[in-house]
Amino acid sequence: MAGKVMHAVQYNSYGRGAAGLKHVEVPVPTPKTDEVLLKLEAASINPIDWKIQNGMLRPLLPPKFPFIPTTDVGGEVVEVGSNVKSFKAGDKVVAMLGTRNGGGLAEYAVAKESMTVTRPTEVSAAEGAGLLVAGLTALQALVNPAGVKLDGTGPRKNILVTAASGGVGHYAVQLAKLGNTHVTATCGARNFDFVKSLGADEVLDYKTPEGAALKSPSGQKYDAVVHCTTGIPWSTFEPNLSASAKVIDLTPGAGAMWTFAVKKLTFSKKQLVPFLYTPNKENLELLVRLVKEGKLKTVIDSKHPLSKAEDAWSRSIDGHATGKIFVEP
Ligand SMILES: NC(=O)c1ccc[n+]([C@@H]2O[C@H](COP(=O)([O-])OP(=O)(O)OC[C@H]3O[C@@H](n4cnc5c(N)ncnc54)[C@H](OP(=O)(O)O)[C@@H]3O)[C@@H](O)[C@H]2O)c1
Repeated sequence: MAGKVMHAVQYNSYGRGAAGLKHVEVPVPTPKTDEVLLKLEAASINPIDWKIQNGMLRPLLPPKFPFIPTTDVGGEVVEVGSNVKSFKAGDKVVAMLGTRNGGGLAEYAVAKESMTVTRPTEVSAAEGAGLLVAGLTALQALVNPAGVKLDGTGPRKNILVTAASGGVGHYAVQLAKLGNTHVTATCGARNFDFVKSLGADEVLDYKTPEGAALKSPSGQKYDAVVHCTTGIPWSTFEPNLSASAKVIDLTPGAGAMWTFAVKKLTFSKKQLVPFLYTPNKENLELLVRLVKEGKLKTVIDSKHPLSKAEDAWSRSIDGHATGKIFVEP
């Protein structure tokens, strides 16, 4: 592919949201020895993608401008580096591109072999791409620290999933149910039926006083909370928690970090756990297998062509996705 150019979407500075995205023609990247070159079929957008554009992780990310954002992709291998053993041209895969490299909003991208997994025919490119950051986060938060065994062999736990209609939340509800837990979920009223269809036992409307108080209608105390939204103080969680509960905070702000420190220093049994997912190939293979077997689904909020990537970007920034948002070249 040397010398060939491709359509890509990039930004040149911090800020400006969708207005900061530019459509460009750039060279198709060349895979290093341990990389595969993918012809992309779908890229999934996560809030971290536009938070990086906002400068949340400056000066670390992006490492330089211009930057082609997004990391979670599905596609077909078209070329492999000289040390790549597991893939060949024509293989259908999903891959997590490096956070420093990005590259998902393009026709082609390079991925490390170590974060590329085979995609069976039953799993579409979008269904696979959705699993990466969002699916890995849901899985890893539930298994450790929440202590849920996904094969259902662990003790029955009560789990609360906040923002259960979103990208992480909709996977968390389904995976928690595979683990034989009782799931209470928060979402907007419009998503009640949707979240129940994912398996939630009880659903709370976050816009009502009862929902905002996180009170389980049947009086359950939560053993773990997969906390996928923001703005809920510890004092709201506290009365709803069992004796050794963990609130796993995916977006910890200053208040959460303070609570985390205080709970640690006072040897509190109830803990707040600031959480960050880890790229993990085995976990990703498990998620793909669960989708193949029909035990887990990626719910598609919307698909947008690469030529209208701004629409996908704005939709994610608006924060009202039901499931996952995709861009398709
Ligand atoms: N730490 C990590 O490793 C990690 C990994 C992935 C994601 N995250 C973070 O986790 C958060 C969730 O990510 P995501 O991809 O799931 O986001 P998302 O898909 O954009 O979430 C959108 C959903 O959240 C719902 N929602 C918004 N506010 C709510 C509230 N107060 N109560 C209940 N539901 C609410 C919305 O419902 P309505 O439309 O009805 O408002 C919408 O369905 C983000 O902050 C993200 O950056 C962290």
